[in-house]
Amino acid sequence: MYDFSQQTALVTGAATGLGKAIATRLAADGAAVALVDIDEAGLEATTRDLAATGAKVLAVTANVGSADDVEAAVKAAEANLGPVGLLVNNAGIAVIKPYLDHTDEDFDRQFTVNLRGTHLFLSRVLPGMVERRRGAVVNISSVAAIHVTAPHAGYAASKAGVIALTQEVAFEVARHGVRVNCVAPGLIAVPPSATKQPYLQSAAGTAGRVTTPTTTRPLGFGQPEDVANAVAFLLSDQARFIIGQTLKVAGGTDLQISMTYPGEPLP
Ligand SMILES: NC(=O)c1ccc[n+]([C@@H]2O[C@H](COP(=O)([O-])OP(=O)(O)OC[C@H]3O[C@@H](n4cnc5c(N)ncnc54)[C@H](O)[C@@H]3O)[C@@H](O)[C@H]2O)c1
Repeated sequence: MYDFSQQTALVTGAATGLGKAIATRLAADGAAVALVDIDEAGLEATTRDLAATGAKVLAVTANVGSADDVEAAVKAAEANLGPVGLLVNNAGIAVIKPYLDHTDEDFDRQFTVNLRGTHLFLSRVLPGMVERRRGAVVNISSVAAIHVTAPHAGYAASKAGVIALTQEVAFEVARHGVRVNCVAPGLIAVPPSATKQPYLQSAAGTAGRVTTPTTTRPLGFGQPEDVANAVAFLLSDQARFIIGQTLKVAGGTDLQISMTYPGEPLP
C-alpha cells in the first residue's frame, strides 16, 4: 500500500476491467479519484461500489478522443476533488482481425482512443502538474506494442505510440518535478462480465484457467490487481527515480520464443 491521501487521481476507462481495479487501488491508498469513461451506466455502478467503501470518488462521463470532453472532464475533476496529481491513461479499445481485413475506420478508431486520448489528457493535465512541480502519470500500453500477440496491427501500432509518447514527454517534464511512465500488461483475466473485449471474454475469462501454469504461461493469467499494483508503484514516491519506462506486467509470457513446439500448420 502507498499513501496517496491528500491527492487527486484521474483514471480513464474506469468503469470496468483494469481501469476499475486501478481506481479501486488508488482509492484504497487514500486518493480522491475521478473515474472517467464513455460508458455512463457502467461508470455510475463502479462509482457507487467505490463510494460504498468510503472512497471519495466522482464519475465523469467523457469520450477520451474528444478534446472538448477531456477539457470538461479535467475541469469537473479539479472543481470537485482538487488539482489532479495522479493521472492514469487506461481507456483503450482493440480491433482483433488480420491487418489485411483492417479498415481505415478500424485504424482511426483505435488511434483516436488509445493514442489521441492519451495525448489529450496528458496535454490538459501536465501544465497544472508542471506549475505545481508535482505529479505522476502512468499510461497503459500493452505487450502487443512490443511482441506479436494477436492479429491486431492497428491496436499494436497505437500502443507502440503510447510508449514513444511516454518516453518523449517523460524526458521533457521530469525537470519540472513530474514523472511519466508506462505499464504494458500481458493478457489479464478480466472477468467476462467486466470487459467489453470479446477476445478476453472467450480467452481469459474462464475461472479455472486463471492461475493454472501452462507451457506458455508459467504464472497462468494475470489479474487486474497485478496491473493496479504496478501502476500504484510507478505513481508512488518509491518510483521517484524512474521516468519514461515501460514496465511489462505479463507473467513471463513475453520471455519465450518457442523452439520446442512447432505449432499448427497454416490453413
Ligand atoms: N485486459 C488485458 O488483457 C489487456 C492487456 C494489455 C493491455 N490492455 C489495455 O488495458 C486497458 C484496459 O483494458 P481492459 O481489458 O480493462 O478493457 P475493457 O474494455 O474491459 O475496459 C476499457 C474501458 O475503457 C472505456 N472506453 C473505451 N473507449 C472509450 C472512450 N472513447 N472514452 C472513454 N472511455 C472509453 C470502456 O467503456 C471501458 O470501460 C486498455 O487500454 C487495454 O488496451 C489490456
